[in-house]
Amino acid sequence: MWKVRPSEKAQYLPVVEETESDGMLSGRPSDVQIQEDCNGSGRGLLWSPWMLHIIAFICYSFVFGMMYRNPQSNERCVEKHSLYSPALEAVSDDYKLVRFNLSAISPSPWAGPPSASVDAAWQKYTNLGALVLSEEDLIRTNGSRYSAKVPKEVGDGYIAHVEWYHQLHCVYMLWQQTYPEWYTEEAKMREEEPELWHEHLDHCAETLRAAIMCHADANVVPSNWVKGRHWPHPNYNLDHKCRDFDAAYQWYYEHQANPPPGFEMFARPEEGGYSEYDDLPFDPFDKGTVVPLKEKAPKTE
Ligand SMILES: *[C@@H]1O[C@H](CO)[C@@H](O)[C@H](O)[C@H]1NC(C)=O
Ligand SMILES: *[C@@H]1O[C@H](CO)[C@@H](O)[C@H](O)[C@H]1NC(C)=O
Repeated sequence: MWKVRPSEKAQYLPVVEETESDGMLSGRPSDVQIQEDCNGSGRGLLWSPWMLHIIAFICYSFVFGMMYRNPQSNERCVEKHSLYSPALEAVSDDYKLVRFNLSAISPSPWAGPPSASVDAAWQKYTNLGALVLSEEDLIRTNGSRYSAKVPKEVGDGYIAHVEWYHQLHCVYMLWQQTYPEWYTEEAKMREEEPELWHEHLDHCAETLRAAIMCHADANVVPSNWVKGRHWPHPNYNLDHKCRDFDAAYQWYYEHQANPPPGFEMFARPEEGGYSEYDDLPFDPFDKGTVVPLKEKAPKTE
């Protein structure tokens, strides 16, 4: 393994020759090396295996140490695949297997035609109050430091909600537009403020488009021949691995702000000041931006 340089070989060969008496046994090239190992100039070679052992030991210790100390090993799967949110505590690693029932005319509590019970089904999930986000969680979730605060009568923190709530609201909004005779308020908005109406619906369509692309559901959809239909019909009755929505809803329900009866949660604060943007900020935590504090809310709002 350790090559003997020709000059060294020449130097030590005489030593071998001196033990010529048992030369037949010891005078082999390998003995030359043994002799060298026992001499001063061979000390470097003697230390090399030890150094290798030490280096290997350090490497193994490091690798094993990392394996046991790695905090990621304790991290739940949902945390690995999600950005931090306090609501993640309600999301279990044990996903549920749910078979969607999307047969063409499958009855659903949320499907049309609209009725009081259909609206009640939607409103259960789209009519919740605000969350109170703590200062610590605002920072961990990259919220703007100028985020709107919860009125002090209600709590200490920032006004927030979770994305599924917004996304469901958007589905509800878009679906309502298909029944203008039932949702007369929404239909009136279309007539009276078409720009605002479009802005809201475009925003909802964009929200859902972005969410769908983000999740990129990779389930494959086979088709069936169905009597009376010309083309093979895609069968969307697929199994899905789903988060426990009831648990997510329960978490939100329990974390809703609890304003005193009749209290207006969403009015600009009368005192204590607040920061007002010209437009919604894009940068997390407004790096480098300073939004001046408004002293007082305008009298009429
Ligand atoms: C799925 O929907 C169909 C109606 O299209 C209904 O007959 C059936 O009972 C539903 N299946 C389940 C498991 O809910
Ligand atoms: C906050 O920003 C940091 C830095 O860009 C990023 O690593 C982290 O994932 C973000 N967290 C959230 C919840 O967006």
